[in-house]
Amino acid sequence: MNLLQLLNDRFKAALAAVGAPEAQPLVQLAGRPEYGDYQMNGVMGAAKAQKLNPRELAQKIIEVVDLDGIAQKLDIAGPGFINITLDDGFLAGRVEAALQDARLGVPALPKKRVMVEYSSPNLAKEMHVGHLRSTIIGDALARVQAFAGMEVIRQNHVGDWGTQFGMLVAYLVETRKTGQAELELADLENFYRKAKIRFDEDAAFADTARDYVVKLQGGDPEVNALWHQFLEISLSHCNAVYQRLNVQLNDGDVRGESFYNDDLPVIVEELRQQGLLVEDQGAQVVFLEEFRNKEGEAQAYIIQKKDGGYLYATTDLGAIRFRTRALKLDHCIYVVDARQALHFQQLFTLARKAGFAPESFQLEHISFGTMMGKDGKPFKTRSGDTVKLIELLEEAEQRAFDLVSAKNPDLDESTRRQIAEAVGIGAVKYADLSKNRTSDYIFDWDTMLSFEGNTAPYLQYAYTRAARIRSNAAGIKDAALTLDQPAEHALALELARFSDVVHQVARESYPHFLCQYLYTLATQFSRFYEACPVLEADSKIAHGGRLKLSDLTAATLKTGLDLLGIKVLETM
Ligand code: ARG
Repeated sequence: MNLLQLLNDRFKAALAAVGAPEAQPLVQLAGRPEYGDYQMNGVMGAAKAQKLNPRELAQKIIEVVDLDGIAQKLDIAGPGFINITLDDGFLAGRVEAALQDARLGVPALPKKRVMVEYSSPNLAKEMHVGHLRSTIIGDALARVQAFAGMEVIRQNHVGDWGTQFGMLVAYLVETRKTGQAELELADLENFYRKAKIRFDEDAAFADTARDYVVKLQGGDPEVNALWHQFLEISLSHCNAVYQRLNVQLNDGDVRGESFYNDDLPVIVEELRQQGLLVEDQGAQVVFLEEFRNKEGEAQAYIIQKKDGGYLYATTDLGAIRFRTRALKLDHCIYVVDARQALHFQQLFTLARKAGFAPESFQLEHISFGTMMGKDGKPFKTRSGDTVKLIELLEEAEQRAFDLVSAKNPDLDESTRRQIAEAVGIGAVKYADLSKNRTSDYIFDWDTMLSFEGNTAPYLQYAYTRAARIRSNAAGIKDAALTLDQPAEHALALELARFSDVVHQVARESYPHFLCQYLYTLATQFSRFYEACPVLEADSKIAHGGRLKLSDLTAATLKTGLDLLGIKVLETM
């Protein structure tokens, strides 16, 4: 059981024993070392409900709470907080047990089928920086869900449908004729731009493009084959980005918008049968009472356009319906930027009303802010163009390579390249994941690549240091872990807290809590390293015991960074 849960359970029982079975124990990590390790904040609420003096109630709780062998000290502070200092032997036992466990002592939560839908770029164009956040936040959340014991289905809901694909197929046919296709497709951004110019400037080309759209929708095999070829090439560009980013998405996770195409008329029909659909200015819409405009009128959610075309929303309804009925999911997490918040609120509301999503199916929009440049505006190139994601990642690796080369000029080039890959990509991902995802953040190369502060390079370096202790520890005798020094206690507490944090991120989907934890862990490790020599200690007993702290720190940093999709190195 994770520590927070354990303490909450014990205090819950104590509250019941003092006649307050309804009260919540509200145990939290202590804000400062002088408040102990954890704090129980539920006394005031319980006392108020029972009209008792909170300090007296706190005293009673301390007398009955069963924390033998878990806490070494319980103090009442302020109006009735209970400060909890964990027992050294208990903490040492947690550390020893975690070291023997491949899951580092993190219990699995009850298994559910969870989909994490992320990345989801539009395949008509190349991935740009706007796709970065969904891709890396989603990947981290999928890893955390899996580690927490869920059955995870990753889903890349790519944009692979719509009129623009007629234009792209038409241009593909044209470039094939001149033998330029290979060359042009190497840069999809350019390919799209040129196709668009042809479409706008040449009426015959535009007619062909429109004809292809009709054929594509009608299932014409030849046009379908061409469309598939285009998608394959576009996906191979995405895969190159995923690979570089160390993101666990592959072709098997792709289920694009086109997949739901045949369901769309059925969706409209089902909505109509349920009496939800209304015709409004020729379009088929649903009025949702829950969403009102400034004038207080229910807002229209458009399902089918006047010309019969379907919308983004219709496809999403189809996807929800498929995800419950065919995939039998328990929970679906949509990692999509904050600008789509209203869309998802309306979508979820309608999906519930229409019976596509029963109450037991949890739907969550995990939103995030925008990545900004140093000028405080959305991140762009100097000339104001969108930045291709692959180019941003190349730059990250090059910058890291220059840094590493300056720091370690004697390392051979291939080693420096390897370090640069882990550090450069790690820095970009960590800079993003370590911020509260709901806010915008400023993308700044110098801060993210710094070896000091809450950065990937700092954590990667801390891992290397802990791993190096292990590789120099040959011959040190195994010994029981004792926590005599404050720095040892503090480090053991951090290590024992890992499952609290993993479970919190699995529950709340905020990766920055894990980052903050790893940073604190690395800082505590650094203090311990200064204060409590592992290899130079005179006593062999301290040796073997302390080595366990440093070993578990290495393992926890490695696992924690892996949950964020960030690599570590044995030397750097
Ligand atoms: N392709 C969409 C875009 O680029 C994102 C898709 C998000 N997922 C969804 N189920 N609507 O904006």
